Amino acid sequence: MNGNSGKGADAFVFFGATGDLAYKQIFPALQSLIKRGHLDMPIIGVAKSDWNLERFVARVKESLAASGGMDAAACEKLFSRLKYIDGDYREDTTFQQLRAMLADSKHPIHYLAIPPSLFGDVVLALGRSGCAKDASVIIEKPFGHDLQSALSLQKTLRSVFADSGIFRLDHYVGKEQVQNIVYFRFANACLEPAWNRQSVAQIQITMAEKFGVKGRGAFYDSNGAIRDVLQNHLLMLTTILTMDGPSSHTEDAVRQEQTRLLRSMRPIDPADVVRGQFRGYLQEPGVAASSTTETYVAVRLFIDSWRWEGVPIIIRSGKCLPETFTEAHVTFRKPPVSVFDDPPSVNCNYLRFRVSPAGSIAFGVRSKLPGMGMKGEHRELISNENMVDAMSPYERLLLDAIEGDPSLFLRENGVDAEWRVVDEILKHPPPVEVYEPGSWGPPSADALVEPLGGWLTGR
Ligand code: BG6
Repeated sequence: MNGNSGKGADAFVFFGATGDLAYKQIFPALQSLIKRGHLDMPIIGVAKSDWNLERFVARVKESLAASGGMDAAACEKLFSRLKYIDGDYREDTTFQQLRAMLADSKHPIHYLAIPPSLFGDVVLALGRSGCAKDASVIIEKPFGHDLQSALSLQKTLRSVFADSGIFRLDHYVGKEQVQNIVYFRFANACLEPAWNRQSVAQIQITMAEKFGVKGRGAFYDSNGAIRDVLQNHLLMLTTILTMDGPSSHTEDAVRQEQTRLLRSMRPIDPADVVRGQFRGYLQEPGVAASSTTETYVAVRLFIDSWRWEGVPIIIRSGKCLPETFTEAHVTFRKPPVSVFDDPPSVNCNYLRFRVSPAGSIAFGVRSKLPGMGMKGEHRELISNENMVDAMSPYERLLLDAIEGDPSLFLRENGVDAEWRVVDEILKHPPPVEVYEPGSWGPPSADALVEPLGGWLTGR
């Protein structure tokens, strides 16, 4: 069995080196890691684009310039470490070249920033070529296409790598703002007595994006919002908001609680789902003319546990909505009796966790207005996060994987549990409803929140 079993990596290989993810996230993360003194090893890009090293370096420069600039010293080091292989992922010669280029590296780490349909082939070829020996692998979500394909991908991965050498990356987990939710929940004991069905009336999560598929039509069309963000980013965010307190911050304790929570999520009922597609999606390059892929999804979810039984969790996400932000509201029950003559609205007490664009945590309360009467107004006590010098999620997660720390990566059983939650709605999806770009999605999604007093953000 291969697998680095937690030792630090000594070469960084990434497949999909000429792709979108590398351009937007990986090159800037590598530059930043070098600048902070965390990365000093061969960096090998692999792709099939008919490029050479020179063209590849030019692409890296473009990426760094577009993402906020090049740091002269870090760039010099990055370029001196960069190598490039242009080769087909389905041909063994590509992997033989890689084996030769790895030279005397003992613990390479392979990052698969490629379409999920290629994961299996690349993993097996890494095994056949000897590139997986004492190595580790990072795979990007979505891990598979549905429960069945995820189970078979896990089998393939385990036939080549030891479990301790498999890093399943969901970049949402690496966001500073998401880790702050973990910290906020378990560093403040006063929350715990209220964090349950007795005090919480509902949870709403919105991940809204003003933009469309940004040239990723082909990738997006074979995935859709359920696979792209609900099954992973948004279920993980829900998990972090609702899991029980771990006994410590060791990777085992935290991931165990996350998996336990994921396993208690009730598979979503297709009757609790609204799928939408923005008008104009069918004209996007790479999208099938008669595609029924959803660019918007809203679901009602329940957790079958003593803590959360009966608390509705409404999650929605969409492209081409009026704004770009991700936010979660945990809304508390209203006061049992109205003491004052201005009864507060149903949603006056809540914790609002803004994940992006800028992180903050707000506590919604009523506060008295000056004067003789006992009248009040709604206020928020806000804590804004200071993100100066924060690591990007990719920077953080790549460093953890390179150092062999699995804490912020998903376990195999966690991934399976995520697929189980959405498997039924993937098999029996309701029809897609067309919505106008710039709107908040199909109006029929309002029915999901109507008994709860409506959406807490947006419409
Ligand atoms: C990615 C999805 O995983 O997450 C994209 O593929 C989505 O469709 C993106 O836009 C959102 O992440 P972030 O960090 O930009 O909010």
